[in-house]
Amino acid sequence: MRLKDKVAVITGAGNGIGRATAQRFAEEGAAVVVADLQEDKADETVGLITAAGGKAAAIGVDVVDRDDNDRMAQLAVDSFGALDIVVTAAGISHASYNSGDLENEAKWVAERADYLANPAQAVVDLSIEEFRTVMAVNLEGTLFGIQACLARMLDLGTPGSIITLASIAAKHPNAGPLPYVCSKSAVWMMTKKLAVELAPANVRVNAIGPGFIETSMTAVFDLMPEERTDQVWGQIPMGRRGQPIDIANAALFLASDESSYFTGEILHPDGGYFTE
Ligand SMILES: NC(=O)c1ccc[n+]([C@@H]2O[C@H](COP(=O)([O-])OP(=O)(O)OC[C@H]3O[C@@H](n4cnc5c(N)ncnc54)[C@H](O)[C@@H]3O)[C@@H](O)[C@H]2O)c1
Repeated sequence: MRLKDKVAVITGAGNGIGRATAQRFAEEGAAVVVADLQEDKADETVGLITAAGGKAAAIGVDVVDRDDNDRMAQLAVDSFGALDIVVTAAGISHASYNSGDLENEAKWVAERADYLANPAQAVVDLSIEEFRTVMAVNLEGTLFGIQACLARMLDLGTPGSIITLASIAAKHPNAGPLPYVCSKSAVWMMTKKLAVELAPANVRVNAIGPGFIETSMTAVFDLMPEERTDQVWGQIPMGRRGQPIDIANAALFLASDESSYFTGEILHPDGGYFTE
């Protein structure tokens, strides 16, 4: 029970890494606010947690909407009387990404097929809408969620732990499309800056930079030409695909008092893919 009596807010907890983290935290005694754009998936996560004897509440949230973030943070206080931990796992890999919609991913891959041989043209053709949407969800969404939750943490005067989801793409240009790698790099710098700003308030801020983890987001790699698929799944020194639980366990460490002297750090659970 490493998170006994703690209250956690997790965005993007309707699927993948966010869901696994919500389940893992609940197993360790935390009450969890499960926030996601896909409210039905958030409900499903809560169902899994309560069926296993844990405590959780679901809320439909678009992380780019400040009012939604505010309602999310307030739900933690209203339902569970505290707010100790935030994990910002909501994210998109490209502007039209819709978690769990494989047909949509297949269409996206088909549309971009010519760019594999001509990446310079992809740069020329990149639209400002594509760039801004990815930055908005991944970067602004992370900031807005943190701001709303931080306000409650400061009001309540409890020590806090904030965990952002960056990626190896924060440092590795080949780990995603241009807007995605820019957004994750910015999330990582934001994490370091917030760590410095919030340390006097006893709030720790750390990032997780996963390698390639088997979720709806990486299902796209199995739809790509073999060469690209192999560049991802075939190059992991540990020889297996990362699983959401691998990231949930890293988040558990950063959320718990076991990481009490960590702030402004990034962990890279990636099976050895990125070793710099
Ligand atoms: N899967 C990987 O290999 C990998 C690697 C590195 C980083 N990440 C990051 O981890 C996080 C989780 O990714 P995942 O692989 O679990 O993907 P996922 O698609 O399984 O989960 C992402 C969740 O975020 C939600 N979401 C998307 N936009 C939202 C919005 N505007 N508001 C609220 N919720 C929204 C989706 O509905 C979905 O439930 C993302 O930030 C992703 O960039 C993933």
